[in-house]
This record gives sequence, structure tokens and C-alpha cells, in this order.
Amino acid sequence: MLLQLKSVQKHFGGVVALRAGNLDVSTGEVHLLMGENGAGKSTLMKIVAGMLERDSGEMLWQGRSVKFRSPAEAASQGIAMVHQESMLAPHLSVAENIFLGREPRLPLGWVNRRAMMQRAQSIIEEHHFPLQAAWRVDKLSPAGKQMVEICRAIQQGSSLLIFDEPTSSLSDAETQEVFRIVSTLRARNVGVIYITHRLEELRMIGDRVTVLRDGETVHSGPLADLSINDIIRHMVGREFTSIYTRAALPPGEELLRVQHLTRQPLLKDISFSLRAGEIVGLAGLIGAGRTELCRALFGLDAIHHGVVTVSGRDVRIRSPRDAVRAGLALIPEDRQRAGLATALPISYNFTMASLNHVSRFGFLNHAAERSIAADYTARLRIRASSGKQLAGRLSGGNQQKVAIAKWLVGRARIFLFDEPTRGIDVGAKAEVFEMMDELARGGAAILMVSSEMSELLEVADRILVMRQGRLSGEFIGHCTQEQIMRCAAFESSPATTEEQAG
Ligand SMILES: Nc1ncnc2c1ncn2[C@@H]1O[C@H](COP(=O)(O)OP(=O)(O)OP(=O)(O)O)[C@@H](O)[C@H]1O
Ligand SMILES: [Mg+2]
Repeated sequence: MLLQLKSVQKHFGGVVALRAGNLDVSTGEVHLLMGENGAGKSTLMKIVAGMLERDSGEMLWQGRSVKFRSPAEAASQGIAMVHQESMLAPHLSVAENIFLGREPRLPLGWVNRRAMMQRAQSIIEEHHFPLQAAWRVDKLSPAGKQMVEICRAIQQGSSLLIFDEPTSSLSDAETQEVFRIVSTLRARNVGVIYITHRLEELRMIGDRVTVLRDGETVHSGPLADLSINDIIRHMVGREFTSIYTRAALPPGEELLRVQHLTRQPLLKDISFSLRAGEIVGLAGLIGAGRTELCRALFGLDAIHHGVVTVSGRDVRIRSPRDAVRAGLALIPEDRQRAGLATALPISYNFTMASLNHVSRFGFLNHAAERSIAADYTARLRIRASSGKQLAGRLSGGNQQKVAIAKWLVGRARIFLFDEPTRGIDVGAKAEVFEMMDELARGGAAILMVSSEMSELLEVADRILVMRQGRLSGEFIGHCTQEQIMRCAAFESSPATTEEQAG
């Protein structure tokens, strides 16, 4: 037995995050930790990794009762964690982050930068991650940061590795690499705790599963005994059968037309259009340019060439302000940096994109703000103590829900959703899709970027595919994951791909 947690409790002010966290993990086991957004998964794992101290309860590490006071203390005992929200030092390089606090040294104690760079690069290459050791971390996408966190945790050579949603922003190829890493660790007798909301991942990697609900362990046992539905039932505490299906609408007028959009160096000659009532998926591998396309359309990056037309009128979008005026909304992938005011209350976050709804004669109507906050908190089942809670203090998935709700309050007609369900639990996912459907039925057009192919197939009326900055295909009606993958992954001439692979 590696780790045992018994009745662990933790509260933050008035919020009880954990009532009775129970969990045990043995060596060479992959233990899944499941639960809805806000159930207490990250809190429990942060206690194990020394980032938080428990209020009460017991933690046994290799049979000994312990209480870690810092991540360094947990690390010295052999516990490492891949965090849900990036804990990296943004202004340092990838290599420096991988080795932070344990840099290779020269005889007089100086950091051996050459060795550090080389070792970091070789870890990166061993796992085929698209990173360079010298890159600065603040320039990376959420996926890039996740890969750095993974390299860092592996480098520590620990006996217990905690993965808190390691694949939430990774695409298929990188996700497969994470699975490979996990099975290598298991074969080396390392214990692994793995948190995910992607239910289709479970069977591929887990041995046992523990489910938390409202801060309490409600189930623990072998995975083989459970169906996905059993797990969901434990998570939400009731029967749950929302397999989402969307009845397509007859498409309406054309709301957005993009012609020959080009932005150096990545985006090349992109043309497509969105009609009212449509949900259009945008598939592609990491780095294909999907986020860049959304950013350019929303005025965050300059468009170098091409024409954007909204409802038949040419528009020049040079800033997000222009974009909002033209009726666009962007729900960005990186919610911490761009989607949320994490230091401000939830209620303010809901209304900040649409202040005119809650103000009259230039004054903010707090009652209106509160009622909007209460309404969306209930609809999206956001777990918060009140509208006054700071957005940055919500669990990861609940932050994402606030970032989405913020735009639903407003008057936009063209929605760009960049990985909207990243880190969101099953129940809330269905809720988000229903809201998108509602928007579409109300006459909006939606472009939805997602790395989860199954999700695109479920929700989108048509799917555009990007590859290396260009649109490489479009699927209307029935198609398979494989077809989309092929369109997203392969060069037009197979020879080049083989050359690269070799
Ligand atoms: N620093 C904090 N201050 C106040 N409340 C907090 C803090 N950290 C977590 N909480 C609260 O504790 C509860 C559990 O949060 P936690 O992050 O453990 O959830 P989770 O199961 O990891 O959810 P998710 O799937 O969304 O990541 C939530 O209600 C959250 O709002
Ligand atoms: Mg979490």
C-alpha cells in the first residue's frame, strides 16, 4: 500500500471542499479519481502533494502517518503532481520549469545550463512533444503548458504521480502519449492517480476508481465491475441518461462570411461561412491554427489579408471592441489568462461583457446583476458559495462555466467557442450543449473548436477541418472520426509524411 487517505476534511472560509475524502492507492496501480466539477478532487490531491494542509483526517504514506507542509516536502518523499491549472513560472524557459528547484549543478554549485537544456530536450523528444527546451513558458498554449507539467513530473522520478486532468487540452496524439507514459509508470511499479472528465479514457487506462461527490467518497472499487453509467450515477447521485443529440435546424441567413483570410505566418487563405441556426465544428491537431483563427476573427490578432462580412456587410475588425460591436463573442481556450477576471466576483464576471444590460443611466443595477448571476449559476450548476465568490477560487470546471455564461448574458449573434467543454463534467457538458443549441435556435451561428472528435460528431451540423493553417476539408452529414483524423493529420502527398516520420 502506497497511500491511504481517511476521512480527510478541508474547508475554505465557509465553503466545505472536503467532508470525508477516502482513498487508497497501491504501487503499480492506476487509480482514477472521478467526480463532478467542484466535488473536491483537486483539493484532495493538493493535500496529498503538500500544497494544502488538511483540517482533519489521516494520511498514511507507505504506512507512516504524514502531514506535508510544502510541495517540496511531498516531492522529497516521492510524490509529484501534474496540475490542472498551470503552476509553471511564466517568464522562465521550458527547461528551467522542468528542472525548477532540482537543476543539474556544476562542482561549485552553479547551475549547469548546458546539461539542463540537453536533458530537458531529450525528455521532450522521448515523448514526441512539440516543444523546445529554450521556449518561454508564457508563450505556450494551454496544451504546451500541460506537456511541460508532465515532463516536470516525470523528471522527478517519483513513487506516486498525480495527473489532474492531464489531457483536457491535448489532442489525440498527445493523449495517446500520456496513456503510454501512464502504462510505463505502472510497469515500473509507480502508483498513479488520474483525474479526468473524458469518460472514454477510463477503460483505456484505469485499474480502480474512486468517486467523490460533494466532498465525500461515495464509491471505491475495481473499474471492471462498473459501467460508465454506474460511474456517472455515483458522480451525480441520480440516474443520468442525457446522451446528447441535436436535431438540426434548417439553416437561416448567412451571418458570417470569411474570404481568403490570411495572417502570417500561420493562417493561409481561409474561406468559409456560418449561417444562423448552425453549429459548425472546427477540428484539427494542436498547432493547426484553430485558436489563431478565432483570435484573428475576434480582433485579437491582425488579419493581413482577406475579407470578413457580417450579415452581408464588410466589417473591419481591428480590436475585440470592433468584434463585440459586430456581434461576435469569443469564449477562449485559456480561461485563466483571457476568459475570466479571476480576482473579481463571479457576478461581475457574468455581466462584464454586457454591462448595458445591468446598468441604467450609467449606473450599475446590482439587483439585476445579482439575479442574472443567480439564474446562470443555477442553469449551469455552478458550485459557488455565492455570486460574491471570486472567480479564481472556483474549481477548474466551474471557472470554465463562468467564462461561457459571461457571453450568454450578452447580445452576440456569432459565437466562437474555443474548446468550450475543456474540464467540464458530464452533466455540465450536456448543459453547455443545450445552451449552444438554444443560442442556435434563437438565430445565432456558432463555430466550435474541439479536440474531442466524438463531441464534434454529436453536436455539430457540419465540421470544418484545419491543417497547418489551412482549411483542409469539410464534412456535412454522416462521417467518422477516422475520416476527420485523416483529414487533420496527413499531408496531401504521403511521401512527405513518411519522410517526416522516418
Ligand atoms: N482556494 C479556494 N478558496 C475557496 N474555495 C475553494 C478554493 N479552492 C477550492 N475551493 C472550493 O472547493 C470546492 C472543491 O474544489 P476542487 O477544485 O477540489 O474541485 P474539483 O473536484 O477539482 O472540480 P473540477 O472538476 O472543476 O476541477 C469547490 O466548491 C471550490 O469552489
Ligand atoms: Mg479540479
